[in-house]
Parts: sequence; structure tokens; C-alpha cells
Amino acid sequence: MKKIIISAVAKNGVIGRSNGKIPWHSKEEFQHFKNTTLGFPALMGRLTFGTLGKPLKGRLNIVITRNNKLSYDFTDLKIFNSLHSACSFCEKQNYDKIFIIGGAKIYGQAIKIADEMIISEMDFETDGDVFFPEIDENVWKIKTREKKDGFEVLFYVRENIEN
Ligand SMILES: NC(=O)c1ccc[n+]([C@@H]2O[C@H](COP(=O)([O-])OP(=O)(O)OC[C@H]3O[C@@H](n4cnc5c(N)ncnc54)[C@H](OP(=O)(O)O)[C@@H]3O)[C@@H](O)[C@H]2O)c1
Repeated sequence: MKKIIISAVAKNGVIGRSNGKIPWHSKEEFQHFKNTTLGFPALMGRLTFGTLGKPLKGRLNIVITRNNKLSYDFTDLKIFNSLHSACSFCEKQNYDKIFIIGGAKIYGQAIKIADEMIISEMDFETDGDVFFPEIDENVWKIKTREKKDGFEVLFYVRENIEN
């Protein structure tokens, strides 16, 4: 099972604001996110789920929290207390891939264990105080780039240490 990070990142590394908002609106980037993730589990931090307000359609939504008492009244949503336990669950369900959709705290942990990253590099810098973690170029290699309207999609793979 491939663990894939997906994120939209401004040129200065900003992914959001601490009020929970993403400081831009790109219909095409949203469509790319939807087309890519549809049908697969979407793992996210509790704060990111809070910004969505309701589950993403057509995907099993998995919310990560340390709060054992957290519950939501939604179908298509599961809650786990760690990224590890969420990944183990998905592995047992025989998913080919899962998407880790943010936010910064979850990306910071997932970047150590993910197999691939699909990063929409937006064409601009913007104000914000939530950042994507540093990408170690010794570990992550860009395999393809795809130019879109207002952003570029970078496909990263974790470099196999033996290669
Ligand atoms: N541009 C993009 O692609 C993109 C994508 C997603 C989000 N965002 C932005 O990112 C921001 C949110 O990111 P964030 O870093 O503040 O929050 P986050 O990563 O969405 O959620 C953090 C929460 O996840 C839970 N958590 C984190 N690590 C955990 C662990 N090891 N075990 C159990 N639970 C854990 C905790 O929930 P509890 O407090 O409940 O324990 C923590 O408070 C927003 O501004 C959002 O708009 C941007």
C-alpha cells in the first residue's frame, strides 16, 4: 500500500493560516485534488477536518486526533489516535494507496514514512503562518512535473537508498 502525501504549497512554503483557512482559491487545483484522491482513504489531522466541516465525498475520511473522546456523526469517517494506527487499518482493508491530505502537523510526521508526494506548487507567494515541512533533496526526487493553470504538479518519490 502506497502512502502518498498530497498538498498545495505556495512558492514560499505556505499551506495555510492558523485560522484554518487556505489563503487562495483555485478551482483547477481543487479539481486535481479531487480527481487524484477520489475512491481512496484521505487521512487528515483533526484541525484540517475542522476546516472542511464535513467529510470529503467519495472517500473514506480518516481523522487523526489524540482525543479519545472525539466523535463525529458522519458515515464514511473513521477516527484514529495515530498516523501509524490509521495506516495499519488501511493496510488491512487492502487499499492500494492512501492519501495524506494535511495539515502541517500531519505532513511533518508523514514525510518520514510516505512513499510518494504529489505537490501542487502554486505560482505565487502568499501570507500565511502554516508551512509545508522541509523537503530533503537527498531523500525525495522529482520524477515528473505537470504544468497546470496557476500551478505545477510535482510528483516526488522517495529515493531507494540502495539505488
Ligand atoms: N494547502 C494544503 O494543501 C493544505 C492541506 C491541508 C491543510 N492545510 C492547512 O493546514 C492548516 C492545519 O494544519 P495544522 O498543522 O494546524 O493541523 P492538522 O495537522 O490538520 O491537525 C493537527 C491535529 O492533528 C492531531 N494530531 C497531530 N499529530 C498527531 C499524532 N501524532 N497523534 C494523534 N493525533 C495527532 C491533533 O489533534 P487533537 O488536537 O484533536 O489531538 C492535532 O491538534 C490549516 O490552515 C489548513 O487550511 C493546507
